[in-house]
Amino acid sequence: MAKKRRRKLRTEVKRAMLYILVFVIVGIYAINESIKIYKEEQYKKTDEYKLIEIGYEKEKAEYIINNTNDEIVNYLKTNNYNETYYDIISSKYYLNKNFEAYVQYQELHEKEEIDLIIALVNTNAASGWYNKEIDTDITKGDLILVNKFYHLNNEFERDDLVKAQLSYAYADNEAAEKVLLAFKDMKADVEEKLGVRLMINSSYRSYETQEEIYNEFKKVSLKYADSYAARPGYSEHQTGLAIDITSLEHPNAKVFSESEEYEWLKNNCYKYGFILRYPENKENITGYSTESWHFRYVGEIAAKKIHDENITFDEYYAYYVEGDK
Ligand code: DAL
Ligand code: ZN
Repeated sequence: MAKKRRRKLRTEVKRAMLYILVFVIVGIYAINESIKIYKEEQYKKTDEYKLIEIGYEKEKAEYIINNTNDEIVNYLKTNNYNETYYDIISSKYYLNKNFEAYVQYQELHEKEEIDLIIALVNTNAASGWYNKEIDTDITKGDLILVNKFYHLNNEFERDDLVKAQLSYAYADNEAAEKVLLAFKDMKADVEEKLGVRLMINSSYRSYETQEEIYNEFKKVSLKYADSYAARPGYSEHQTGLAIDITSLEHPNAKVFSESEEYEWLKNNCYKYGFILRYPENKENITGYSTESWHFRYVGEIAAKKIHDENITFDEYYAYYVEGDK
């Protein structure tokens, strides 16, 4: 009898354990399902889900979220899908602070390439020449920006100007000492490699000298003056960091622009810290016609980046110096 009771008890224990096991398994399943549903509900509340719902691919939605800010994501979430928004945001020199300006400019110039729109807006060129006046930050050293928007005042004068010697410059030239040292190195290498002698035609110019030059050019026409000469306060020559170069062998600017030494300078001047400041095909960004003679000292690091990325100093400054602040 006792044996029978024990067997019955064992069977009941086994059954009870089976129930418990089934209960635990069903419980775990139910919990997992609830977590899944909860997570799905939570995901549906995310920006990523909303952007995907509008039509952005998952990777693009992720890119937008990781590379913009709440304000821009909210703007995209409350507007229809637009591939152009993504193209703008993923462009190399895109800056969040200019998002609205890019969009506005793009709507007015639908056929313009996105990269160009970014460059025009970043550099202020999109606003039209001389439509903005910005006191340039003179603490930027070699990277001080002077263009059709960023200007110096008539009091700016640097204290490290030195006279250039007649062996490498025409009379009455002076520039920042480091600029002349870098130029002399470059000149020596050009002479050794190509057998021609570079010369400085013009370098530091005071506000007043620039005013005289600009007024002379203006006698031809305002358009001509604004294509080749900066208005007073708006010339890099006042920084002491710009030099106009030709060679003794090719002193004429037109002939110089077709010379071997000009080609060499375009490809190598960055090694000495210089850039060709107003290059070909960038007139819409610099605002000046191509000047094969005007070189600007920016230091070797910036010059290399500008050279490697084939951008103007205006674009470099907007993206790498000012950035998104
Ligand atoms: N030629 C350049 C633009 C200047 O006058 O500074
Ligand atoms: Zn010049």
